[in-house]
This record gives sequence, structure tokens and C-alpha cells, in this order.
Amino acid sequence: MKLIRVADAAQAGKVAAEIIAQKIKSCPDCVLGLATGSTPIETYNNLVQMYRQESVDFFRVRAVNLDEYIGLGAEHDQSYAWFMRQYLFDHVNIDPANTYIPNGLETDSDKECRRYDAVIESLGGIDLQLLGIGPNGHIGFNEPADTFAKGTHRVDLTEATIAANSRFFESIDQVPKQAYSMGIQNIMHARQLLMVATGENKARAVRDAFRGAITPWVPASVLQLHPDFTLIADEAALSLVLDKL
Ligand code: PGA
Repeated sequence: MKLIRVADAAQAGKVAAEIIAQKIKSCPDCVLGLATGSTPIETYNNLVQMYRQESVDFFRVRAVNLDEYIGLGAEHDQSYAWFMRQYLFDHVNIDPANTYIPNGLETDSDKECRRYDAVIESLGGIDLQLLGIGPNGHIGFNEPADTFAKGTHRVDLTEATIAANSRFFESIDQVPKQAYSMGIQNIMHARQLLMVATGENKARAVRDAFRGAITPWVPASVLQLHPDFTLIADEAALSLVLDKL
């Protein structure tokens, strides 16, 4: 595991965008695994800026997202499909046909999970997967549980995640209770992993994930086993593990 310490979220976004842009330059048709939430917004802002300065070209890039809420269609403004268009896809020259996300409106979850795993496989796997971390240690929507889920699966969101994500909705009752998420195997098979963790509310998750035991109760802890995993974290997120990672 490689740690890049940064001062704050702005710097984290800049460094993450540079690593992603480097990947695109070395492999113009790479498969990027993308994430949603507040953390990657800075990364996407920087990538959009780099695209406008003509220092990165998304023309041949393929993008596959980690997760989507069940019950929200791509036109719902809290869906992750909408989020990706809002913060990245509408502002760069990626081909919409090369962007993939679970279909939150598919009610046959077995079918949707099989379809999404097949999409990832047909792309030849993920070259670089961007990740955030939930305050409870989740990655994608792999919530703390007694086993690691392998492939794409339907998740019952924990109360903690529903509460954490309620800030994006008018009320907590509007937060979907389930999601489709890539599984731990999908994520671990990515050839390169890049996590961004910023802010004090991630300090406990960062400590538990990277200083503690590898356990499905802290899903991000499994990343300790990945051969090419980089954590970009600010001092606040590292405040409980300074000098120990
Ligand atoms: P956040 O979410 O970036 O909104 O904190 C991260 C996550 O839950 O993976």
C-alpha cells in the first residue's frame, strides 16, 4: 500500500486527477472504475479542467461505476447516473455509450447483478478503480457484514449509510434503502486502486481499515491485500493514524 499525504481535500482532488490523467495518457482506451459521493467531486473538477486545457482526452475511455441506488432511474437528480453526468460526463468528450452503471430501475436483482458482472468482464476488467470510503468503512456500497460479497449484488443500506447520505436528499425518508453495488471481488480484480479519504469524519474508518485486521466488518480493510493500492489522504483523515501507516 502506498500513502500520499496531502494538506486538504482540494490537494487530494488534484493529486487523484493527475494519477487518473496519467493512466489515460498511458492507456487511452483504459477502463476507469468511477465513484460517487462528495469526495470525488474535487477529482472530477480537476479532470474537467485538464480536459479543457487539452491535457487529457476521454474519447476512447470506458467508465464503469461502482454502484447505484435501487428505485432511482438515470433521470432522477439523486441517482448516481445523474451525478456522473453532472460532475464529469457532460463536461468531457467521453462517449456516453462507453459509460456503464447499474440500472436502479431493474427489479429483477439477480438478472441485473449478472448483467453488470458481464459488463465488467466484457470490458476486460478495470484498469484503475477510484474509491471513497464510508465513515463505517464501506467501499462502493459494500457495507459491514459477516462475509465479503464477491460480485455485483443487491445491498440493504445500513442506518449509518442512510443517515450519512441523507444530506443529499430533502429528508431521510427519501434516501433509498437498497442499492446495487460491485462486490469486493470486482474491486479487488481492478489492476490499480486509488482511494481518496479526506476530513475528520473518515479518520476512524481509515484507522480501522488500514491499521486493523482484515475483516468484512470493515470492508475497506481488504484493500491491504491489493498489490497496487494507493491511499490519498489529508491530515484530518489521518489524524488517528499519523506516523503509523
Ligand atoms: P463521501 O462518500 O465521499 O460522500 O464521503 C464516500 C463513500 O461513502 O464511499
